[in-house]
Amino acid sequence: MTKGRASRIVLGVTGSIAAYKAAEIARYFMKRGCVVRVVMSEAAEKFISPLTFESITQQPVLRTFWEETQPGAIGHIALADWADAVVVAPASADCIAKAAFGFAESPLLAVLLATKAPVIMAPAMNVNMYEHPQTQENISTLAARGVAFVEPDTGDLACGWKGRGRLAEASEIFFETKRSLGPKDLLGKRVVISTGPTREAIDPVRFISNRSSGKMGVALAKEAYRRGAQVIVVHGPLSMTPRLPRRVSKISVTSAAQMREAVLSQLSLSPDIVIMAAAVADYRPAAPVSEKIKKSTSPSSIELISNADILLEVGEKKGESPRPFLVGFAVETGTPEELVAEVTRKLIRKNADLMVGNLAQDSFDKDTNRVCVVCRSGEYESIETAKKSEVARRIFDAIVKKG
Ligand SMILES: Cc1cc2nc3c(=O)[nH]c(=O)nc-3n(C[C@H](O)[C@H](O)[C@H](O)COP(=O)(O)O)c2cc1C
Repeated sequence: MTKGRASRIVLGVTGSIAAYKAAEIARYFMKRGCVVRVVMSEAAEKFISPLTFESITQQPVLRTFWEETQPGAIGHIALADWADAVVVAPASADCIAKAAFGFAESPLLAVLLATKAPVIMAPAMNVNMYEHPQTQENISTLAARGVAFVEPDTGDLACGWKGRGRLAEASEIFFETKRSLGPKDLLGKRVVISTGPTREAIDPVRFISNRSSGKMGVALAKEAYRRGAQVIVVHGPLSMTPRLPRRVSKISVTSAAQMREAVLSQLSLSPDIVIMAAAVADYRPAAPVSEKIKKSTSPSSIELISNADILLEVGEKKGESPRPFLVGFAVETGTPEELVAEVTRKLIRKNADLMVGNLAQDSFDKDTNRVCVVCRSGEYESIETAKKSEVARRIFDAIVKKG
């Protein structure tokens, strides 16, 4: 998350029944390359032992003001200065209230006052405590000062009530932390991304589709979110349930016609960037039927007709306008040199601002990709085989540079 070295995360744990989940959160961040140090409130120790965190993080836990971990250092200031981000999960009503009013009676509260790093809070509490106007006011006060809140989930609560108050998933807290640490070069931008295959029905049980997994578009959506964008993903049927931030809007479609409709309706909301990464079927059966075709009456051939070219249509609608910045994807077979030539042709024909080309053998259903990024001037950049998350980062670097 932090360029060049592991991100340093201070994890604040407070006296919530969800405190035990903080151990999983510490592990989640560490597995993704972060160094985690924990600061606990006194109440948190009633729910989970500091030893658990010390064993997981292999770092001392800051518990009181009066314990020296590094001779000469003031524990809470040293931690506040060390942090790239301070994540409070779970954040109790009490901690949120005291932080809103600037109390510094515990090491955690003092870290929150002293740190210059971004702060992310994940509240967990009884639904009535969460919805209480005072708690909401405290949250608004902190949010206005730049604290990022990860909304609790709705469901059965440990206290017996049902409602909003369950600690958000570790992945959600991680996404929000990444966003807080990410560049802000897409802040406030509306980014529409299409991804995945489409399915073209033959009858109610059979369809024509392709091998696209949607992973590249999902990686692009996460990257746009990390950089501060408001992201809308229009996706076809994916082979996996994508782990996307909750605040990314997801529109699920099946056929190319539905994808076209969803993308065009997004155009009316004036997006800043449109990325067409979906593998939209070029053809569909001319006459799908509503009853299953029996084996005995199976046709020996199926007549196909062309689907609309959504990228071409968006490019035509865009015309000379600089917005949306239009990015197309093209998948080809052949050599890398043939790919660049074909992608350049498509960029011009479809009026895209940037075109990303990949070879089927490098991309379909893989966690890595190898692409060329071609822009209008004819310049192109080759991105050698890398994780799709890294490829997404480089594609957005190119978009920000050209857009
Ligand atoms: C069994 C039990 C469960 C609790 N769960 C929560 C909770 O989920 N969220 C919360 O805000 N407070 C909860 N509390 C109340 C806090 O522990 C209490 O407000 C405490 O002062 C919080 O201190 P801290 O913010 O310094 O950690 C709970 C208390 C008990 C006894």
